[in-house]
Amino acid sequence: MHASELQAREHAQQAAAVLADLSGVAQHQVAVVLGSGWVPAADLIGTTVSDLSVTDLPHFSPPVVEGHAGRVRSVDADGLPVLVFLGRTHLYEERGVDAVTHAVRTSAAAGCHTVILTNGCGGLDPQWLPGTAVLIRDHINFTGASPLHGAHFVDITDLYSPRLRALCHEIDPNLPEGVYVQFRGPMFETPAEIAMVRAIGGSLVGMSTAMEAIVARSLGMEVLGMSLVTNLAAGMTGEPLNHEEVLAAGQAAATRMGALLAAVIRALPDQPSTSA
Ligand code: HPA
Repeated sequence: MHASELQAREHAQQAAAVLADLSGVAQHQVAVVLGSGWVPAADLIGTTVSDLSVTDLPHFSPPVVEGHAGRVRSVDADGLPVLVFLGRTHLYEERGVDAVTHAVRTSAAAGCHTVILTNGCGGLDPQWLPGTAVLIRDHINFTGASPLHGAHFVDITDLYSPRLRALCHEIDPNLPEGVYVQFRGPMFETPAEIAMVRAIGGSLVGMSTAMEAIVARSLGMEVLGMSLVTNLAAGMTGEPLNHEEVLAAGQAAATRMGALLAAVIRALPDQPSTSA
């Protein structure tokens, strides 16, 4: 194994050990990463058993973005131990790919077989008004970066678990699906870039998720990706984009997103799919 991969895994083991110690929960089964727009939904997932700053755990960086709270909770969802990250580290923070994927690696080391990755993003479908939840069917990694180290060939054909998406459709048959295109950011896209995204088959644009999904799969976890459309993508409305609008859409949708997450978590299978 590449030395950098070994080191990333060791760091995750260390963080998981401290997490078990401080939270009093030896193992978790499901991890949830709450991105912009989703943090207000955290309280609806279950009963908080422990609430820590991510910086209480080794190798986590403090958050820089408003709306990304930088906390990690152990939550009891009707008996299921769920690890909930309120906020994440982004590529544009320039801390490197291992900082971006440390929460997912720590989740795997803490025992999680499934991870739910959420984000706030721009939508390309004019029917998706701000506040629309969209399941991620697939992604295009437009960052030029990889979160894996060395000659580590990972199959990501079915990265966003078909069976977990089917389960979400049972809960809400109207949930649309989209292809998420991750840009590095931190600038939003230009209208020409959005035209390109449409041409290459993308329907959601954001600055997270793909790196974490790839690492989760490389560690054998089953991945569910959910986007909250916080704005129509650049150039679609004639209005400029801003981060405040992203946060406001999240606040407005918090109860619905929390209820959706809570229902999905309770319906998850006990075991990861064998193809994961
Ligand atoms: N583009 C990129 N990232 C985003 C957007 C967007 O339009 N909205 C929220 N995050």
